[in-house]
Amino acid sequence: MSVQERLAGIEQAFGQVFGDSQGLTIGRAPGRVNLIGEHTDYNDGFIFPMAIDFDIVMAVRKRSDRMVRIHAIDLGKTVEFSLMTPLTYEPREGWSNYPKGVLWAMQETGVRLPGMEMAFSGTVPPGSGLSSSAALEVATAIVVQKLVGFQIALPALARLCQRAENDFVGMRCGIMDQFISLVGEKGHALFLDCRSMAHEQIPLQLGTYKILICQSGVKHSLVDSEYNRRREQCETGVRVLAEKYPAVRALRDVTLEMLGSCERQLSPVVYKRCLHVITENERVLKSINALKAGDLVAFGELINQSHDSLRDFYEVSCEEVDLLVELAREVPGVLGARITGGGFGGCTVNLIRADAVHDFTGYVLPKYKEETGIDAQIYLSTAAKGAELIQMR
Ligand code: GLA
Repeated sequence: MSVQERLAGIEQAFGQVFGDSQGLTIGRAPGRVNLIGEHTDYNDGFIFPMAIDFDIVMAVRKRSDRMVRIHAIDLGKTVEFSLMTPLTYEPREGWSNYPKGVLWAMQETGVRLPGMEMAFSGTVPPGSGLSSSAALEVATAIVVQKLVGFQIALPALARLCQRAENDFVGMRCGIMDQFISLVGEKGHALFLDCRSMAHEQIPLQLGTYKILICQSGVKHSLVDSEYNRRREQCETGVRVLAEKYPAVRALRDVTLEMLGSCERQLSPVVYKRCLHVITENERVLKSINALKAGDLVAFGELINQSHDSLRDFYEVSCEEVDLLVELAREVPGVLGARITGGGFGGCTVNLIRADAVHDFTGYVLPKYKEETGIDAQIYLSTAAKGAELIQMR
């Protein structure tokens, strides 16, 4: 569907739900896939994600009162709340907590919000680990920012969306998903230093290769609690390491030698978590060098190592995703395959020769179905442009 067709669909749905579609501010924000650098963002480390060709389009306009009504076009559901009372998290209203959380975070920074009508529709598969929630937050943030006219610089806007998720929804995510959704550039993946926030857009010159995303169709429960637990384990590691090395503020500051020297003070689990983060940071740096040198074989190898470390040391994979990775690696033309995102299901990211995509589909998907009974989905994506306002009338 073309952008124009999607816009027309959103305007039409907006009109049906809210009476007419005059005076809309419309914006879009993409999901993301992380190529390498997993569970490093909240350890002040390095990440290398790209925005994908799947996004959320959000339309908004003011109301004269202080009610907010948000309509999810794809679900046919509308949620309504008042800005006259404090905004609260509603566990039974899943998706609506993300835009609501962004409004809450804006209020927390002192912005006085007007009542609003909002409608959105998306192509990011929800619950797949491709950050549909961050796309929803960022789409909300840019349209409401425009509507209200308040100024906020870029890293702060990403932080505001992250805060919505951390402090309103209760998921202690890092900065990756919101940041890449905001700053993605067409044809580039983003190298971000999550401590200094210095970033570099790296041209993704893959030649005859492509990025293939494969969705396992699995989302284990407890994703958020296990994620938060990983963060706590990293924090424990930092506390222990800082006793011997006072300059250590995050796992970013720890070398393998330092970790080795504290092995006996760390529980085996915490040791493994730290080992993953330290080596993953190194893999990101090596990946950037490999890409700059046009060495896709080396990049693929690092992707493979990342998965093995996430599976064995960080323990955020699961049987189904491990199977998808193993099957993918059996396909000639696949240079690397790994789990991507927070883990416990979700997607794999694969670096694959374009002419092998057909073999991937013909081999991996049926084998996976045979063993798990699940239909995996394939998405091919280029590196896409980040969030933008697309129409104001
Ligand atoms: C989730 C979080 C990100 C990041 C990844 C793991 O996607 O939202 O901040 O921590 O997991 O790399």
